[in-house]
Order: sequence, then structure tokens, then C-alpha cells
Amino acid sequence: MENKELIFDSNIDKLIESADLTKEAPTEEPYRQYWFMKKARQLVNEKSKELNRDLTFCVNTFGCQMNARDSEKLVGVLERIGYVEAPDENADFVIYNTCTVRENANLRVYGRLGYLHSLKKKNPHMLIGLCGCMMQETQVVEKLKKSYSFVNLIFGTHNIYKFAELVVSALTNDRMVIDIWKDTDKIVEDLPSERKYPFKSGVNIMFGCNNFCSYCIVPYVRGRERSRNPKDIVREIEHLVADGVVEVMLLGQNVNSYGKTLEEPMTFAQLLQEVEKIEGLERIRFMTSHPKDLSDELIEVMKNSKKICRHLHLPLQSGSSEILKKMNRKYTKNQYLELVEKIRKAMPDISLTTDIIVGFPGETEEDFLETVDVVEKVRYDSAFTFIYSKRTGTPAAAMENQISEDVVKDRFDRLLSRVQEIGRTMSARYTGTVQEVLVEEQNSQDTHLMTGRMSNNLLVHFEGDTSLVGTICQVRLDECRGFYYMGTKVG
Ligand code: SAH
Ligand code: SF4
Ligand code: F3S
Repeated sequence: MENKELIFDSNIDKLIESADLTKEAPTEEPYRQYWFMKKARQLVNEKSKELNRDLTFCVNTFGCQMNARDSEKLVGVLERIGYVEAPDENADFVIYNTCTVRENANLRVYGRLGYLHSLKKKNPHMLIGLCGCMMQETQVVEKLKKSYSFVNLIFGTHNIYKFAELVVSALTNDRMVIDIWKDTDKIVEDLPSERKYPFKSGVNIMFGCNNFCSYCIVPYVRGRERSRNPKDIVREIEHLVADGVVEVMLLGQNVNSYGKTLEEPMTFAQLLQEVEKIEGLERIRFMTSHPKDLSDELIEVMKNSKKICRHLHLPLQSGSSEILKKMNRKYTKNQYLELVEKIRKAMPDISLTTDIIVGFPGETEEDFLETVDVVEKVRYDSAFTFIYSKRTGTPAAAMENQISEDVVKDRFDRLLSRVQEIGRTMSARYTGTVQEVLVEEQNSQDTHLMTGRMSNNLLVHFEGDTSLVGTICQVRLDECRGFYYMGTKVG
């Protein structure tokens, strides 16, 4: 990959301005997209004059942090081409950035589409766009073509970088525009994005996933694993810091395998050390770590770091070695527990969280009790618990012994109550201590209170005012209320 300067946002504006619309769109990226941004700006401007009002947009995001970051890129383009953000879906351009990791994420989108249709009947100028992981499934696109013909634009996860070009197609086309790619090895840098929070940001360090856990659809909808060049990552963060960001969340489906596919391979721990050097950056988080690839080097780097947060999300999925094997997770119950022990030994104050699936095909009561056993041994600060959802095309969907709904529901409830009980005790263990918090927002229920996030990812509410947003304060934790604290600012 070439070693180029990252183009800063203000330069992006200049580059869009300097695109020559009298000539054909350039073929080289990202310049091609700058050309389409200028073109789209012209079209939006004309429409806005015709209607004598601003055109508005609403991006609704489902799913994980990757999707949240992708949506910031969509918003970055929409704002640059002249759309103004609307408070809700009653807008001229509504986009759903979808998730398909579990069936219910899917169903929610179909449900909302009916409502969008009713809005569109009232506003004939309205454009409806669908993108994200669900669109990578052929049966979904077929269904949309057949029964949701009022949708204007459908694109997938691999070509999101050409959003400006797709918007121009949608604005100039009466028919449904569909552009889905099977996969890509391309990473286009230097596109605009608009952050949700001024003081913190997600940063993609890699895309796709090669792990093929047998229940999971992500590798099919996000494609093969590819890492961004470390120089591009560091420059992006330097730029974010210059723009007021103090905390970054490095994003990847399995950050521990970062760098393996680079021309000059590099480990995730090495990347973290590079990021740590960035002056002005206060906090580093990352998501997600696969236990099979978590190295001693990473533990060492975390332990010695002043910036990496004391929080590790370490998805367990199941506590049964038998089920883990069928899940293709490549670790056993004991290996997982040993890893946790190693981490806790190096960083006793670390907060551990996890993901657990209940009701994987063939899961017996004994397997389930192994999961509860791990939960009791590890004592997570919190855990996301999911009911297994059959995803078409994954190996697990074809496995025998799918578990009946009532058995799963019973196990799920038992697990959840155990997880919550332990989570409450674990969360309370910091009572009385003074912690550094990054102040995120004013409390919506009581405006005298501000909400801050600790290094371990727990929230604390304390008296303060909005001038504190984005700063790091010292807060004494007075009282733990379940999963958050009430505190007092002491510095
Ligand atoms: N790459 C991340 C996970 C991304 S998906 C990792 O490996 O940790 C987030 C979580 O959704 C997973 O950790 C898993 O617990 C859950 N999940 C994935 N597929 C699922 C399915 N088919 N049914 C239920 N939960 C699922
Ligand atoms: Fe899915 Fe496994 Fe990849 Fe995570 S590591 S995204 S669970 S296949
Ligand atoms: Fe969902 Fe796609 Fe993320 S399927 S969990 S939005 S990678």
C-alpha cells in the first residue's frame, strides 16, 4: 500500500470544490467520490431551491460499532452534499444501516419499512435507502425487490465508500438502484465522516472476519479479513485528536488478528504501542478480542499502558468445550479460564465483559451448566446474553438437535439472573474510590447531573454542568446503583 498523507477534512472540502464536472468522473478513488459529492451537491441544491426549503436526512443504525462507524461516514457525505439532519424519520432521505446477526434484528427492519412507506406516501420527494449487513443476503434483496418496491437505493457493506456515487444514481433514477458486491479487497481512505460525539470516535483498524464461527453470519456479509495500513490508522487518529477527540475505540471483528494480512505484518499489540504515542490522546479502547488470539504480548502492553482502558470484552459464547468445538471457536473451557487468570494476574483491577449464546444446537443441560460455571468463576462485570438464532447459510443452521424454544428460554432466564447478580456485586467493588471519568453528556432526566465513563466502562452520574463535556475529571464513587454509580466530582 502506498505511503500517503491522510487528507484532512478541510482539504476534503477543497478537493470536492475543485472537482471538474465538465469532465467525466475520474476513475481513481477517493477522487471519483469527491466528483460525485460535488455533483450530488448540485442536485440537492436544485431540489432545495425548487421546494424552497432545506432537504433533510435521517440515518437509522442497527447492529454493532462497525455499523455505527459506517453510519458516521454516510452522515459525513450527506452533510457535505447539502442535506440537513432531521430529528426523526420524517425526512427527505431516510437510510437504514441494517444488521443481520440475529433474526430479530432483521425483523425489526421489515417492521419499520411499513412505517416508512406511509411517510413516503405523504412526501413524494422522499428517498429510502437500505444498506449494511442484511443487504449482503441475496434472499433479502429478492424480498425487497418483490414486496418493497418503494425503496430507492440498496447497497451493501463492501461498497459503502461509493455512497456519493450511489446517491447521485438514486437522485437521477426513478427505479430502485441496487449495488451489492460479494466481497472486496479494497480499502478506500480519506472519505469524510461526521462524528456523533466530538470527544470520542470509533476507528476501523480492520474489516471483515475469517473466523467462521459456525453460528455466525458476519464472515459472509462482511467478507474476508483485511487490515488497514498502520500509518493510515495513526494519521486518522492524529487528525481526530487535533479535532478534539480524546478517546478512540479501535474497531475490528477480531482485533487480536490485526496486521496478519499486511505487506509488512504487525501485531495488534505493536499497533497499540504506536497509537499510545499519539500526543493528546488520553484513552484507547478496542473491540472485539477473540480469546484464541489474545497474546501475552497484548497483556504486557495493556499492563504497561497509561492510555489503554482497564476493560476487556472477551466473548465466551459457551462454557462447554464440546459446544465450543461445534461453534468452531478454537479454545476450550480451561484455556479460556487460564487466559482470564493470566489477565487478572497482570491487571487485577480490569473489568471483564462477555457475549454468551444460549441454545446452540445440541446444547445439553450439562453444557449449559458449564457456561454458568464459567460465569461464576470469571465473575464478569456484565455480559450480553443471546438466544441462539439460526442464520441461513451458516454451518450451525444445518446441525441436528436444534433446541426447543421453551428449553432455551428457561436456560436464558437462569443465565441472565446469575449474570446480573454477579454483575451487580462486581460493579459495586469500586465504591468509595476516586476514578478518572470522561464526561460524556448531561443526564436527560436530571439536568443538574452529568454522566461520565470510567476507564472500566462503567458510568457515573455526578453534579456538574455541560462545560465539562469531553473533559476528564476525578470523581469519587459514592454509591453503586446496580450497574452505575452516583458520585461527586473531586477534581
Ligand atoms: N466478532 C465478535 C462478535 C460479533 S457478533 C466476536 O467474535 O466477539 C456479536 C455477538 O453476537 C457475538 O459475540 C455472539 O455472541 C452473538 N451472535 C453472533 N451470531 C449469533 C447467532 N446466530 N445467534 C445468537 N447470537 C449470535
Ligand atoms: Fe462472528 Fe466469530 Fe467472526 Fe466474531 S469472530 S464476527 S463471532 S465469525
Ligand atoms: Fe450486525 Fe453486521 Fe455488526 S451483522 S453485528 S451490523 S457486522
